[in-house]
Amino acid sequence: MAEHQVFKIASIPADGVGKEVVAAGRKVLDALAEQSNGKFSFEWTEFPWGSEYYAEHGVMMDPNGLEELKNFDAILFGAVGWENVPDHVSLWGLRLNITQNFDQWANIRPVRFLPGVVSPLRTADDTELDWVVVRENSEGEYAGLGGRNLSGRGPGNEVAIQSSLFTEKGCERIIRFAFDLARTRAVRKVSSVTKSNAQQYGMVLWDEVFARVAADYPDVATESVLVDAMSAKFILHPEELSVVVASNLNADILSDLGSALAGSLGLAASANLNPERRFPSMFEPVHGSAPDIAGKGISNPIGTVASAALMLDHFGLHAEARRVEAAIEATTAAGHLTRDIGGTADTNEITEAIVEALAKSLTSA
Ligand SMILES: NC(=O)c1ccc[n+]([C@@H]2O[C@H](COP(=O)([O-])OP(=O)(O)OC[C@H]3O[C@@H](n4cnc5c(N)ncnc54)[C@H](O)[C@@H]3O)[C@@H](O)[C@H]2O)c1
Repeated sequence: MAEHQVFKIASIPADGVGKEVVAAGRKVLDALAEQSNGKFSFEWTEFPWGSEYYAEHGVMMDPNGLEELKNFDAILFGAVGWENVPDHVSLWGLRLNITQNFDQWANIRPVRFLPGVVSPLRTADDTELDWVVVRENSEGEYAGLGGRNLSGRGPGNEVAIQSSLFTEKGCERIIRFAFDLARTRAVRKVSSVTKSNAQQYGMVLWDEVFARVAADYPDVATESVLVDAMSAKFILHPEELSVVVASNLNADILSDLGSALAGSLGLAASANLNPERRFPSMFEPVHGSAPDIAGKGISNPIGTVASAALMLDHFGLHAEARRVEAAIEATTAAGHLTRDIGGTADTNEITEAIVEALAKSLTSA
């Protein structure tokens, strides 16, 4: 019999609906492990970091937290952000602290159209639309470079500088990642997104690196599209998309647009990868802490469960990842939907339906 594998996972539910959706993701992964016939299991360690931790300790995470996380196989993250902490403090204190220090430079955000979920796009069809946003996750507009000064000159005189950082190495590694990903997909195409007409330094460097890297992948079709035009293309011609690679800010915005087109922010999955595996990678839904619905038990867990599927892929458990995705599809196709996608089911009901669909797929296999 093959060796039993134990995956050590750090779970960080953090704030708001993060707590509900991470619990759902854990439930689905544990159900899968139970059905694995002893092939693998998950060993969970939950960390209480987030805005409540901040209220008590004045920091978003244990100052030694990165050291503690270093030895895990992966991190399952919920969402960060609550009214007691300014958003830029909570984001930089926890989520960006992890993604930046663990060099999770590739952020993968698939846009998937699910059966039974009505898209605001009139012509959307889940059999044809399926693309992935690849987000540069370590520099660009979120490099954290800049400062504020001159407030001493009195009201109305303060200045702020927020600089973007584009390095040739940073551009090249994410663009190559996008091309390699395109080679694994039915449609081999990479769309590069910048705003290089207006941002003539960093984004022109990105365009030049894109052209250079593209020459190494003659079998992959390419296009370079400005971000404003790409926003329109997401809506008017999404069937032309396969892999969309963009800088930190542009891809962050485009992936929210993509998930809204698929029906809801609550559906969107994401993986923050350290492809060299020097550090653990982090898997999380794209959405935030959703304070408007937090605590009601009605959040959509699908984005987190689909992120758990990306984690399975990262562990090489590809068949299991496809089973989780199929269980999500069976759930929505059967009309089990949360309120954000037009249904009435709550978080637990959807999670149970996914677990049941997983069990069914085992008996019918
Ligand atoms: N990765 C992160 O941790 C992350 C990402 C984005 C925003 N945030 C933070 O989250 C807080 C709220 O931000 P926001 O309102 O701009 O974005 P949000 O994603 O939390 O919510 C936007 C809208 O989507 C809905 N929504 C989000 N997740 C859902 C789910 N699982 N099921 C059903 N509906 C869902 C919300 O109810 C809300 O109407 C802020 O503090 C922000 O800084 C964190």
